[in-house]
Amino acid sequence: MLRCIWLLQLIHQFSLALAMQTNTKGVVVTGATRGIGKSICQRLLREDPDPAVRVFLCGRQLDRAREAVESIMAAMPEAAKGRLEPLLLDVTSEDSVANAARQIEAAYGKGSVYALINNAGIALDVPWQPDWQKRADTNARETVETNVYGAMRCFRHFRPLMCRGGRVVNVSSGAGMMNVQRMRDNRRREMLDERMGEEAFVALVEDFIRCWEGTAAEGRIEMHPERGWWLQTYGFSKAVLNLWTRIIARQHSELQINVCTPGFILTGMTEGYEKASTLKTPEEGAKTPVWLAVGDHTHTGRLFGGEGDEIEWVGYGAGAARQT
Ligand SMILES: NC(=O)c1ccc[n+]([C@@H]2O[C@H](COP(=O)([O-])OP(=O)(O)OC[C@H]3O[C@@H](n4cnc5c(N)ncnc54)[C@H](OP(=O)(O)O)[C@@H]3O)[C@@H](O)[C@H]2O)c1
Repeated sequence: MLRCIWLLQLIHQFSLALAMQTNTKGVVVTGATRGIGKSICQRLLREDPDPAVRVFLCGRQLDRAREAVESIMAAMPEAAKGRLEPLLLDVTSEDSVANAARQIEAAYGKGSVYALINNAGIALDVPWQPDWQKRADTNARETVETNVYGAMRCFRHFRPLMCRGGRVVNVSSGAGMMNVQRMRDNRRREMLDERMGEEAFVALVEDFIRCWEGTAAEGRIEMHPERGWWLQTYGFSKAVLNLWTRIIARQHSELQINVCTPGFILTGMTEGYEKASTLKTPEEGAKTPVWLAVGDHTHTGRLFGGEGDEIEWVGYGAGAARQT
């Protein structure tokens, strides 16, 4: 009798887990408390009416994630109802990312994550920031921890929860392609080598950080004299995010993994830019990330611009656009 109850319970749990796996189409959006990330959540809810869609609006402070959820709920109550959830996730913390993944697994099961959008980012040395030429020696490490290792960390913890055919979208920047264009030829060749393994990739990133830290005290040096890196940390972080996208797309043919540049967008990151009024809205910046995450396409390992146009890995500006 006891054995029979135990068996029934097991069958019940199994069918529950199966239902959870097939019923939820989770989309994890990092750095979604404001700016482009928040607009990505709104656009996802509006453009994908599937009731199975569940958007996890992630923030490194839970109260800010909750505030963002509440403001979206107020703005679009019908579309957001029962489909939007705040989640604590600091991309620089292994524990925080692991906890976030565990929470989703416990509530919705394996296979419940359809898309991961690595949007969280910081820009410490862009020219419109007042102190950008001061070159704190911690800039490179901090930037890479968020913009590069943060995305890698999220992929490591969420991939086991992803369903076959799931999507990864990395939010990069035109500064990445410009950085590759400016570095020395041998460095540029490395930046285009998608056969690079993870160990070599991390060694390359750490080499840049060492070069940055070794020259930070000397003020504004643009090109590292021996190693040939173009010493701008934000652009470098996005250049290697592009490279990493190619590497993992090659390794994970079961997923569709792409990277995009949202365009020049008016957010906290561009505050202080002198021509701020010419910039696009966060809503426009969300267009390509949302299309790559849930839109109808079969691309993987590719780089797209703000209008869903495929672009080159090096350059930016005239001649860099490529037709899809
Ligand atoms: N704006 C542009 O013109 C532009 C152009 C090209 C690319 N991008 C890229 O687009 C993405 C979004 O940028 P944005 O313009 O929307 O910038 P933003 O308004 O400054 O928003 C950045 C978001 O990232 C979050 N974040 C920062 N560090 C984090 C961490 N350690 N863990 C989790 N979240 C973290 C911030 O959270 P808090 O609220 O807690 O600070 C915020 O939600 C970035 O990757 C950026 O590089 C932007």
